[in-house]
Amino acid sequence: MDFATAPSPNPSSLASADRPYHTTTNPYPHDFNPNAGIMSLLPNLIKSDNRFDDEAASWDLNPFVRKSSQQALATILSHYPQLQRYRDGQADSSEGLDLLEIGCGTGLLSFLIAPYAKHLTAVDTSHGMITTLKQKLASASHTGTTNIFPVCVDLKDPDDPALRQNPQDIVPKFDLVVSHLVLHHVPDLVGMLSTMHGCLKEGGSVCLTDYEDFGPEARKFHPESKMQGVERHGIKRTWMEEQMRGAGFEGVMVEVGWVMEKDIEGGEVGRFPFLVCQGRRGSGS
Ligand SMILES: C[S@@+](CC[C@H](N)C(=O)[O-])C[C@H]1O[C@@H](n2cnc3c(N)ncnc32)[C@H](O)[C@@H]1O
Repeated sequence: MDFATAPSPNPSSLASADRPYHTTTNPYPHDFNPNAGIMSLLPNLIKSDNRFDDEAASWDLNPFVRKSSQQALATILSHYPQLQRYRDGQADSSEGLDLLEIGCGTGLLSFLIAPYAKHLTAVDTSHGMITTLKQKLASASHTGTTNIFPVCVDLKDPDDPALRQNPQDIVPKFDLVVSHLVLHHVPDLVGMLSTMHGCLKEGGSVCLTDYEDFGPEARKFHPESKMQGVERHGIKRTWMEEQMRGAGFEGVMVEVGWVMEKDIEGGEVGRFPFLVCQGRRGSGS
């Protein structure tokens, strides 16, 4: 289901009898509103429990996430030279790769990598993030970008029909699955790896980037106020290799791709290694 296009529960659009916090005839004196207390709470009642919905509008203002997306792009390009060949016009369109990005957010990496891909399906569980991505795609500054397909879905099934751009299409399989700064937010990461494996064409690959759990200091990556939705403080290298092999990936390689400095609480600067997690779906797996 594409939550971004699902009807939103807007109380003012409901028939009056269905409106939960509104009385059509006020039996009280005109200056007394019995619902005033509840009405004042409404913004909080409809506030999302997904912190990324609330952060979507200002997400792109964060220089750290913008810079880390550029690092992720450079790393992906260095591992998959066919992306560069396609971008440079040295490959015909049949050699272009179909990409799936998990946890695309507002599309920081999506817009960077789209010129190197034939097509990019960009999924995220946050309605707010996908709405912002759709707004960016519709804006004048991005009219040239026609190969990104944004989907709001919690992808648990590689054959989820939400991945189809048109109802008559078969559910696509992908040459490359990417994801940046997402793995530490996924509750069932083992299940997610298995879903990613199932989304790949035979011979297709994953290239996943996220910060490393290098010890207790990794916790400082997030300020205490932003711990909602943080399932783990980074990714443990050997654990990740084991889980990727367990999910069926071949040629698994998990290594540090780059290191970034980040302002952390207490006015200090932390150094955070980023892992690049690669694996391939073998033929017949
Ligand atoms: C730290 S943000 C990174 C966003 C984007 N990749 C970037 O670098 O700007 C994490 C994103 O992952 C999304 N997310 C969390 N769990 C997810 C899941 N299970 N499937 C897809 N997206 C998920 C969040 O909604 C959020 O947009």
